[in-house]
Amino acid sequence: MIIAIDGPAAAGKGTLARRLAEHFGLELLDTGLLYRAVGLKTIRGGADPGDARAAVRAARALSPSDLEDTALRGEEAAQAASQVGAIGAVRAVMLDFQRTFAHTPPGAVIDGRDIGTEVCPDADVKIFVTARPEVRAERRLKELRARGVDAIHGRVLQDMKERDARDAKRDVAPLKPAEDAFVLDTGDLDADAAFAAALDFITSRNRRG
Ligand code: CDP
Repeated sequence: MIIAIDGPAAAGKGTLARRLAEHFGLELLDTGLLYRAVGLKTIRGGADPGDARAAVRAARALSPSDLEDTALRGEEAAQAASQVGAIGAVRAVMLDFQRTFAHTPPGAVIDGRDIGTEVCPDADVKIFVTARPEVRAERRLKELRARGVDAIHGRVLQDMKERDARDAKRDVAPLKPAEDAFVLDTGDLDADAAFAAALDFITSRNRRG
């Protein structure tokens, strides 16, 4: 089984993906981490994340150790990810790995922006997780503060809106729900309620065959 989870920043994709993977015994892939790693590698190589040639070089050279950097969770990596993610040639390099991962038994829960639309249009289940920007910014703020990062709500909200706009407006693989996605608004749901709603959707869908 392949479960595709897409949606904007801090909507609750990661938590939901992890819980679904545990529940169904599937592998888990956070594709945001891949794009963050390409963004950071591009910067560390001395180039601008908007530089297509440098970003493609970084994507091709990506290795497992690049995914272990603690800076990947930071805002610099997030913005760089969104810039390299707007480059079609970078996305093309990432495609094979993601598809192979998805189709390797026992299957996977994959979260990102274009999983249901581009990477796995054949996914068994597609969920688009969303929430109003203010709620998402509040969640990101809590996450940051829990990690000891000093941040203010207004700035987090502004950075997030900027990134969402870039992700939604880009020409290649823009952020949008697949036509057959279940749209899950987590604005008024905690992690348990979001998980229960997703599970309900999956089981009712499987019953219908
Ligand atoms: O954790 P958060 O939702 O803030 O971000 P993320 O999932 O780690 O993704 C960081 C950035 O990578 C996004 O803003 C996208 O620009 C890019 N990304 C993408 O283009 N395609 C994906 N499949 C995943 C992430």
